[in-house]
Amino acid sequence: MTNVVVIGCQWGDEGKGKLVDYLSGKADVIVRFQGGNNAGHTIVIDEKVFKLSLLPSGIIREGKISVIGNGVVLDPWALRTEIDTLSELGINVTRSNLIVAENVPLILSFHKTLDLLREKKAGSKKIGTTGRGIGPAYEDKVGRRAIRLSDLDRPRYLHSRLERCLEHHNILRNGYGEPIIEVEDIEKELADISPFIKQFSAPVWEVLDEKNREGKNILFEGAQGSFLDVDFGTYPFVTSSNTLAGAASLGTGVSARKIDFVLGVVKAYTTRVGEGPFPTELKHDQIGLHLETVGHEKGTVTGRNRRCGWFDAALVKQSCIVNGVEGIAITKLDVLDGLKELKICTGYEMNGKLRPYLPSSINSSEIVKPVYEKIEGWTEPTRGINSLKELPRKALAYLKRIEELVGCPISFVSTSPEREDLVDLNDPFKKNEK
Ligand code: GDP
Ligand code: IMO
Ligand code: MG
Repeated sequence: MTNVVVIGCQWGDEGKGKLVDYLSGKADVIVRFQGGNNAGHTIVIDEKVFKLSLLPSGIIREGKISVIGNGVVLDPWALRTEIDTLSELGINVTRSNLIVAENVPLILSFHKTLDLLREKKAGSKKIGTTGRGIGPAYEDKVGRRAIRLSDLDRPRYLHSRLERCLEHHNILRNGYGEPIIEVEDIEKELADISPFIKQFSAPVWEVLDEKNREGKNILFEGAQGSFLDVDFGTYPFVTSSNTLAGAASLGTGVSARKIDFVLGVVKAYTTRVGEGPFPTELKHDQIGLHLETVGHEKGTVTGRNRRCGWFDAALVKQSCIVNGVEGIAITKLDVLDGLKELKICTGYEMNGKLRPYLPSSINSSEIVKPVYEKIEGWTEPTRGINSLKELPRKALAYLKRIEELVGCPISFVSTSPEREDLVDLNDPFKKNEK
């Protein structure tokens, strides 16, 4: 039995989906534990592209059990669409390969409305959310007025829960000049989706406990990235969940003591979608443009261009500490092929002072100057390479320097979107193979 958590160490889109897909070859159960359909995980197998938002990336492989934990906020309509899309690609999702926590809070239509209304009203001060209702759904969860999956089994109770929830939302809607919603409107919407979603409902904590007792390997798939974490991220430009590895326990009911290994996924450079601080951003200079075009840096969920910049070792080092990362996976090394000189950020200069970490709160008017170390680039292509000894010497030096600066060993290096184009140095499941 090995329990492995995979998380992103930057601002999301590090390539977690590719690593989770690869590792799920040796896992029995793959679990999403936070976030919702704001995530977009891309998997490429023999040029066939799979895009997943809510379903764990392990769903692609036959004979695996996929789990959506209680820490997720679940849009049942989005799940149905995703399952339909996968079925067109030949992947069947049924109760035999998917279970959803009975205590998962639901994203309902008014959560999306509120998310979009707020962003529109905020104008230039917007967060740049994905507009999927994630924030409002988590607010309702901690506000103790959320509708959870198991509530759908009890119509009278559901009615009273909706009354309480809508009392809150209608006050807000009134303020925004939106028409109020009646309980019956939402009951109607739910009646349409209930039979579909209820078939997956299960006590996830109990199922995972059983799997652990049977000696099965469990893979926990993080969404977003450490600096989008609601506590440790660049607040308020964050998502509304805890994205750190610690959330794997609370978001599923598997004790934190049972986690064996945390793998941190990092891009060989940095990207960010949405608003917020990004010290190593290259704006639209030539290198920024190179990263954006060669790296195809377009958001999977919203299609927005991702902002691009140099690798930030100070950021990733902090991430490794707060997540307990024991191995990093460096992705998209191939995107740097052909760049003459590379830069790595080792800290920041702020108000004349040197800082080793990005402060938790930065006012947008404050000037954060990254401190860079220069390193030679390489001209040889790395794309498709899957063994360390084939990598150009200078690419190896770049990787080595990252390892030193972030203080964590490299477990994987990825050199293309394809499943097999990966240097595997320390597969956390391998050591437990029978
Ligand atoms: P996630 O949200 O962390 O799962 O990452 P995304 O799937 O949103 O974004 C990563 C993108 O990079 C996807 O389009 C992947 O197919 C692609 N990708 C992953 N690894 C590599 C790599 O090593 N090289 C290249 N060129 N692309 C990669
Ligand atoms: P994956 O799992 C990158 C960003 C949004 C926005 C902020 C808040 O694919 O790495 P939200 O809709 O969550 O309230 O938006 O978080 N964001 C992501 N950025 N990758 C993601 O997921 C993201 N999920 C949310 O762009 O800045
Ligand atoms: Mg993504």
